[in-house]
Amino acid sequence: MKGLLQFLIGKIILLALASSVVTCYDPSPLQDYCVATNNTNGVFVNGRLCKDPKLVTSNDFYFSGLNTPGNTNNRLGSSVTNVDVRRISGLNTLGVALSRFDFAPGGQIPPHIHPRASQLILVLEGTLLVGFVSSNDYNSTLFSKVLYPGDVFAFPVGLVQFHANIGKTNAVAIGAVGSQNPGVVPIGKTLFGSRPLIDTRLLAKAFALDVNTVRYLQRVFSSEENIVTPIVN
Ligand SMILES: *[C@@H]1O[C@H](CO)[C@@H](O)[C@H](O)[C@H]1NC(C)=O
Ligand SMILES: *[C@@H]1O[C@H](CO)[C@@H](O)[C@H](O)[C@H]1NC(C)=O
Repeated sequence: MKGLLQFLIGKIILLALASSVVTCYDPSPLQDYCVATNNTNGVFVNGRLCKDPKLVTSNDFYFSGLNTPGNTNNRLGSSVTNVDVRRISGLNTLGVALSRFDFAPGGQIPPHIHPRASQLILVLEGTLLVGFVSSNDYNSTLFSKVLYPGDVFAFPVGLVQFHANIGKTNAVAIGAVGSQNPGVVPIGKTLFGSRPLIDTRLLAKAFALDVNTVRYLQRVFSSEENIVTPIVN
């Protein structure tokens, strides 16, 4: 009986811990809005500080320009324009953001992870091959689909995903994420273009490659420009 009680209390503590972890990211807003400000005065919070509500205006919730195609003139033939809390300060604490993806024929957004958000993609133009791979526990299963205009596909948080234009024309898609700041971990750049670089022999063994191939990948990924459109103010 005592053992059972201890077991139950242990479970309750575990559950409490688990739920406090869950509320650690993009918590529900505690006010109507919390428009981000840069004025930190040495204080940091989980997210951004809020502007004085009396000073908030419509422009804090507004961004214009997502009708403009991004520049796909790069090795990957793609471009990502994010509208997150960095472009709409009013998104602070709201837990949503969206992006425009442009693809030249043959272009792709290479395998990557969003560490803080699940994602939806909506194809507006062209033909995309998209997919994600489940974790080890779920046998690294590939879930993949060819998408046409009007098609929507969902990507669970934290799993490796990719998007590729397999059509003969440009492709355009909109991505929606459940975070004001979903983050991105591009697999190739993270492993082969880190600063400083990860030990070459370690990577060669990890990926069953010879050291020269790893050096080649490190040269490519270290010098590669970012496909994410920079935020210019
Ligand atoms: C924060 O600072 C950056 C550059 O210092 C500026 O471009 C941006 O507009 C600022 N954002 C806000 C919400 O004040
Ligand atoms: C993973 O593979 C094992 C062994 O084949 C199988 O028993 C299990 O059901 C699979 N799990 C999933 C989620 O596919």
